[in-house]
Amino acid sequence: KNQGWGNGKTLYQYQGSWHLDKAIEGTIAVQDRFVPCPTDIVLATVPKSGTTWLKALAFAIFNRANTDPNFIKSTFTKTNPQACIPFLEIQLFSNHRITDINIDINRLPPPRLLATHIPFSSFPQSNCKLIYLCRDPKDSFVSAWHFFNGLGAKDGHKPVALEDVFELFCSGVSPGGPIWDHALGYWRESLRRPERVLFLKYEELKENTEKQVRRIASFMGCPFGLEEEEGGVVEEIVKVCSFNSLSCLEVNRSGTTEVAGFDIENRTFLRRGEVGDWKNYLSVEMAERIDRVTEEKLRGSGLSF
Ligand code: A3P
Repeated sequence: KNQGWGNGKTLYQYQGSWHLDKAIEGTIAVQDRFVPCPTDIVLATVPKSGTTWLKALAFAIFNRANTDPNFIKSTFTKTNPQACIPFLEIQLFSNHRITDINIDINRLPPPRLLATHIPFSSFPQSNCKLIYLCRDPKDSFVSAWHFFNGLGAKDGHKPVALEDVFELFCSGVSPGGPIWDHALGYWRESLRRPERVLFLKYEELKENTEKQVRRIASFMGCPFGLEEEEGGVVEEIVKVCSFNSLSCLEVNRSGTTEVAGFDIENRTFLRRGEVGDWKNYLSVEMAERIDRVTEEKLRGSGLSF
């Protein structure tokens, strides 16, 4: 148990990683009751590594041929991507729902698009496809610090100073942490079974979104055809899911989405959306310290940031 992240939110360690109690209860429910299908496609991330973006992209890729040509745009106008593809443990199997999420997982037609923050080692044994997105730990850390302070502020808690959670983060105590172990679990599986795990990096997604969108579509089993390529479908998906498009929508300025029993303001899922925002928050020493931990943790794995 650790209360260092403050804001009335306690993190608990379960099977080696740190989570809110609600996420752990949901994880146990997933481990007990979720029946995976080989056709399932599960988006896996550690919190604050770009889940919202990945959900938007996967949703748009998957639904691009909807009979209603406006389906994707009109969905995003009403719904934050976080609610378009549900988290297994903190939405579908959560005991803490404020409202009824109107999804019966057993009735969803295949392929089911799902999401999770559960570390690979705790995720139920399955043959389902996994798309993992990770991010430079420095940016994830800064993003998480903003996000958790925002969550606490809603309950009247004072913000926690960045310096006060820094050492905790480095020692692995952060939501979903140790963040390095989270990435390594999925990374190793992606090396063992590349047909099962597609491993993506936020920075690469930023650098060439179209290229990664094509990779995601192929992996999901719905590659872009010639007509779609010529018709600019990939470019359109990239645009509709971009930070600028999503953050301008009214639903993402004033709306909320229920996650883990919290009514979370959508704008907090779309804060800055940049690579390297850590430079505005971390001292040179802090950045070097995280980089050192990253290097030590990932040494010999073939994964780097
Ligand atoms: P910042 O806090 O650095 O801005 P998650 O979705 O896993 O909670 O991660 C949130 C982070 O992803 C936030 O990072 C958010 O701004 C960024 N993000 C959300 N949507 C994005 C998009 N469409 N493009 C790029 N970044 C996005």
